[in-house]
Amino acid sequence: MGVMDVAIKRIGVVGSGIMGAGVAEVAAAAGFEVVLRSRTRDGADAMLAGLDASLARQVKKGRTDESVAAELRARVTAVTALDELAACDLVLESVVEDLSVKQELFRELDRVCTPSAILATNTSTLPVVEMAMVTDRPERVCGIHFFNPAPAMSLVELVPAITTSDETLAEARAFVEACGKRPVTVKDQAGFVVNALLFPYLNNAVRLFDAGVASRDDIDAAMKGGCNFPMGPLELLDLVGLDTSLAILDALYTEFHDPNFAPAPLLRRMVAAQRLGRKTGAGFYDYQR
Ligand SMILES: NC(=O)c1ccc[n+]([C@@H]2O[C@H](COP(=O)([O-])OP(=O)(O)OC[C@H]3O[C@@H](n4cnc5c(N)ncnc54)[C@H](O)[C@@H]3O)[C@@H](O)[C@H]2O)c1
Repeated sequence: MGVMDVAIKRIGVVGSGIMGAGVAEVAAAAGFEVVLRSRTRDGADAMLAGLDASLARQVKKGRTDESVAAELRARVTAVTALDELAACDLVLESVVEDLSVKQELFRELDRVCTPSAILATNTSTLPVVEMAMVTDRPERVCGIHFFNPAPAMSLVELVPAITTSDETLAEARAFVEACGKRPVTVKDQAGFVVNALLFPYLNNAVRLFDAGVASRDDIDAAMKGGCNFPMGPLELLDLVGLDTSLAILDALYTEFHDPNFAPAPLLRRMVAAQRLGRKTGAGFYDYQR
C-alpha cells in the first residue's frame, strides 16, 4: 500500500526529539506531506538540519539519489505554532513521556485540528484512553508506536484505546502500511508487547551492573555474543534515553506493581545527574558530541 491509496495525506508530528524527527523522515519518505512542530525555532531548525544530515548520509552511501532526497526534503515543513497543524489529517505526538504534558497537548490539538483528524500518540507505555478522554473526539484517538530509530525499525504497535473506532484503527493501519512498516495491534495496557517484555530485561541489566556482577562492556558483550542481540542492554538504554526508559519503567510499575518493573535505583540517579545517554553525550557510555 502506498501514499496514493490512503485518505490521509498530510501528517503533523509534534515534538522534535529522537522519535519526532525519525517519524517525520519515515512519513516524508513514504510520500506524505509532513508538518513538524517544535516549541522553539531553534528546535525546528535543529530538526531540519538533522534531516538534511541524514539525507546527505544516505545519498553518500548510495541508498538514495539526490533528486529523491530533495523531493523528500521538500515535503517537510518545520513550524513552531500548533495552529499550523490545522490542515493535517493525522497528527502524531512524540513529546516527552509524561501523561500531564501529553494530555495538555491533546486538549490543544483537539481545539486546533479539524474534527475528522486522527490524533495519535507515540507513547511507549502511557494509557492512550487517558489522552483520548481529554478530547471531544475519543473515537479518533489511538496509539501509533514507532520504534527507535524509526527509519530503520520495521515494527509499529497500533494501540486502539477502548474508545477508538474501528474506522480510526483501519485508517491508522493504512497509514502505517503506507510507511512500509509492519503493524501489530495491541491492547491499551502499559508497555504494549515490546516494552512489557523488553524493559524487565533492561532494568535487570542495570541491577547486574550496579551489583558489580560484570563490567559494563562484559554485560553488553554477553548479550550480543550469547543471544545474538545486535546491541547490549546498556547500549540500548543509552539509545532509548535514560529519562524515557525511567518513565517507561515507572508507568509499567504503576500499572502492574510487578517488582521486575521497579526502576533500578541507579537508573533514577543517572537521570537526576542528566546522564541520559546518547542525547546528552553521556549515559552508560560516553559519546563525542
Ligand atoms: N526513545 C525511544 O526509543 C522511543 C521509542 C518509541 C517511542 N518513544 C516515545 O516517543 C516520545 C518521545 O520520546 P523521544 O525519545 O523522542 O524523547 P526526546 O527526549 O528525544 O524528545 C522529547 C521531545 O519532547 C519535547 N518536550 C519536552 N517537554 C515538553 C513539553 N512540556 N511540551 C511539549 N514538548 C515537550 C522536547 O522538546 C523534545 O522535542 C515518548 O512518548 C517516548 O515514550 C520513544
